[in-house]
Amino acid sequence: MQFNQLEEIAAAVQTCTLCPLHTGRVQGVPGEGPTDAEIMFIGEGPGYHENRQGRPFVGPSGQFLDELLALAGLQRHEVFIGNVVKCRPPDNRDPLPDEIEMCTSTYLMRQIELIDPKVIVPLGRFSMNLFIPGAKITQIHGQPRRINGRLIVPMMHPAAALHQPRNRELIAEDFRRLPDILARADSIDPVDPAPRSGSTPSAAMPPPEPPPEQMRMF
Ligand code: URA
Repeated sequence: MQFNQLEEIAAAVQTCTLCPLHTGRVQGVPGEGPTDAEIMFIGEGPGYHENRQGRPFVGPSGQFLDELLALAGLQRHEVFIGNVVKCRPPDNRDPLPDEIEMCTSTYLMRQIELIDPKVIVPLGRFSMNLFIPGAKITQIHGQPRRINGRLIVPMMHPAAALHQPRNRELIAEDFRRLPDILARADSIDPVDPAPRSGSTPSAAMPPPEPPPEQMRMF
């Protein structure tokens, strides 16, 4: 049943015309992974390679994501990987608010409900904004917080490390912490970000305010 519904979503993405992004689509990228995945990674949107192959994170960002998953003791086939928008924005421009709203309300939020992951890892600011509007990814990356019952651990987008090599270790450090976060997922309360022991810039920051309960659908 749940499998069928996810398959229906995946099929619908391939013929979707709900927003202008469909005009540049070679293949839609619905996302992939086990229907009962404990962790769901949500990127921004397909790039050149993803658009051609119909699979998420198969280009340079994906290669780095695979390395990051290994740091967390995870393999790709164990996790669900999706995106905020399912069709490639032209020239990899940022997805527009209307495109994000249409695509997430039609597809991503239903995928989340069906998969019901223990932990959601938004990758990058567009994905983070769905769950923690107005936050700054540079300030809250790696910090788990429970929002409307769901554990959200925002991380920088892997592409941020490709563009800025000094981000590489920051992202890697956040991924190394994931197993611990997953292990104590049930005991992380709504307002407490994880204690951070590292010396990254964000570790020195005060804990963030509890996020406003603005997120839709959770
Ligand atoms: N970047 C993303 O955000 N998603 C992909 O699928 C590939 C690159």
